Amino acid sequence: MLLGLVKEFRRADEIRRHGLRVRSKLLFCGPPGCGKTLCAEIFAAELGLPLFLVKLDRLISSYLGETAGNVRKIFEFARKQPCVLFFDEFDALARSRDDSSEHNELRRVVNSLLLFIDHIQPKGFLIAATNLDRSLDPAVWRRFDEVVWFDKPGRSMIGRFLRLKFKNVDLTFDPMQHAAALEGYSYAEIERVCTQAVKSMIIDRRKQMQERDFNRALEDEARRRAGQSRLAPTS
Ligand SMILES: Nc1ncnc2c1ncn2[C@@H]1O[C@H](COP(=O)(O)OP(=O)(O)O)[C@@H](O)[C@H]1O
Ligand SMILES: [Mg+2]
Repeated sequence: MLLGLVKEFRRADEIRRHGLRVRSKLLFCGPPGCGKTLCAEIFAAELGLPLFLVKLDRLISSYLGETAGNVRKIFEFARKQPCVLFFDEFDALARSRDDSSEHNELRRVVNSLLLFIDHIQPKGFLIAATNLDRSLDPAVWRRFDEVVWFDKPGRSMIGRFLRLKFKNVDLTFDPMQHAAALEGYSYAEIERVCTQAVKSMIIDRRKQMQERDFNRALEDEARRRAGQSRLAPTS
């Protein structure tokens, strides 16, 4: 799908000459650590466009008067400069839209941001990323040309990912035995387990990784997850 968009972008002028619209606004949905930012980076590199990252939660929580000005600056910039404009934490916007509090000015800023998204014809791409799934307000996702889903890896993807991560590591055990234990983990979490296991081997000055290196890393990650769910029980 993304490859199709790359091809479309390369023939954009010709497509426009035929009076057709080029798809340029994408919404990336899925849990954290599953490749949304990574994919935007690869996409931009593939197109040879610079990637500009805007963290919406920061943008919105800065002073409101400034927020409106910042939003305007970003869009003026993206109108002139061919780039991939990446809005991270896009759910911050959806959330503040729901927020029926007295923050009228915030609502105004958010709505003007949505209007901007409607009207802008980016010279490159506009990509927004959100952790929210289908509960995302239709008024928000309607504005995008394509919605791309990112998911946590299933058992066989976990296996492939482990093989890739340990490609250059001398193992004394079969990591595939642990694929099941990693179900429900994101790519970023699995990657952290692998990295910690390698570090544990290096710290002990060993040339081979033992199963206990891996188990220790896995326990650390499980502890980390438990801690996180205590901090944010809803996510
Ligand atoms: N699909 C994937 N394949 C390989 N590695 C991945 C994948 N998704 C995430 N990762 C790893 O996890 C890290 C964090 O992913 P990221 O793209 O920031 O996730 P998101 O933006 O969805 O929260 C990446 O830098 C990469 O190392
Ligand atoms: Mg990200």
